[in-house]
Amino acid sequence: MRTKNNRVALVTGGTGGIGTAICEKLYKDGYTVVANYRDFTKAMKWREEAKKWRDDHLRMGIDVKIVEGNISDFKSVSRMMEEIRDDIGTVDVLVNNAGITRDAPLTKMTPEQWFEVIETNLNSVFVCSKLVIDEMIKKGWGRIINISSVNGQKGQFGQTNYAAAKSGMYGFTKSLALELAKKGISVNTISPGYTSTPMVMAIKEDVREKIISQIPMGRLGFPEEIAGAVSYLASDEAKYITGANLAINGGLHMF
Ligand code: CAA
Repeated sequence: MRTKNNRVALVTGGTGGIGTAICEKLYKDGYTVVANYRDFTKAMKWREEAKKWRDDHLRMGIDVKIVEGNISDFKSVSRMMEEIRDDIGTVDVLVNNAGITRDAPLTKMTPEQWFEVIETNLNSVFVCSKLVIDEMIKKGWGRIINISSVNGQKGQFGQTNYAAAKSGMYGFTKSLALELAKKGISVNTISPGYTSTPMVMAIKEDVREKIISQIPMGRLGFPEEIAGAVSYLASDEAKYITGANLAINGGLHMF
């Protein structure tokens, strides 16, 4: 049974693989949840897909708002935050979840593949965090949860761009955690391993099978296993945890 609380959670890339599970979990926890999706001006189908995602969830009794925004663009996110503030309220829990891959060995990687990944996966963390912290500081409460990756910890063939962005999140998280430690705001990372989402299913089957064979638990993670950790880090129980990284990877990397 859902007991509504008075907190607003924003999940970037909220309609994606892990994002969907996070939205559903936080909604069940009682938050008013807003799922950000990609700038539809680049592809109208993204807006249609997001609307369908919302309608499907409404039919399941899960009322998650959707809001469009290019998360690496300061102006776009400023407008998005204004919309959320006007319609719902200021953001109490920010989950920087949106991420893309453009895998290629560096010999073959194009500048576009590099910059696209750094913008979406790392610059977005700066932009979105920057635009929520003033209100969190005013309220004396806030949670920023950055979804990194096992590959930011261990590196991965074909992912210099992705691993650099995901690894960059750790330095950002620890530094911002220091800056906000006295303000009632925690900043943490979660590092999922290979999780059963369209992103991982897009890896060529033979390559993916080889990766799975290296996971000590012998399987991919479930998005719900990541969402459970987000729920905990967002809760009041977790208030003494800041600057931390929680690895959820089936034993693939232990550090
Ligand atoms: N380790 C060492 N060598 C490797 C290798 C690996 N993991 N993968 C490929 N190679 C070698 C190949 O053996 C080959 O060597 P030779 O030239 O001597 O024959 C060379 O690299 C080139 O291999 P390919 O022809 O396969 O290269 P490609 O350009 O076609 O593909 C790739 C490279 C796209 C990166 C492919 O290897 C791949 O998809 N790898 C998986 C990357 C991955 O794990 N991505 C994760 C996506 S999901 C995600 O990121 C979520 C998360 O957070 C976990």
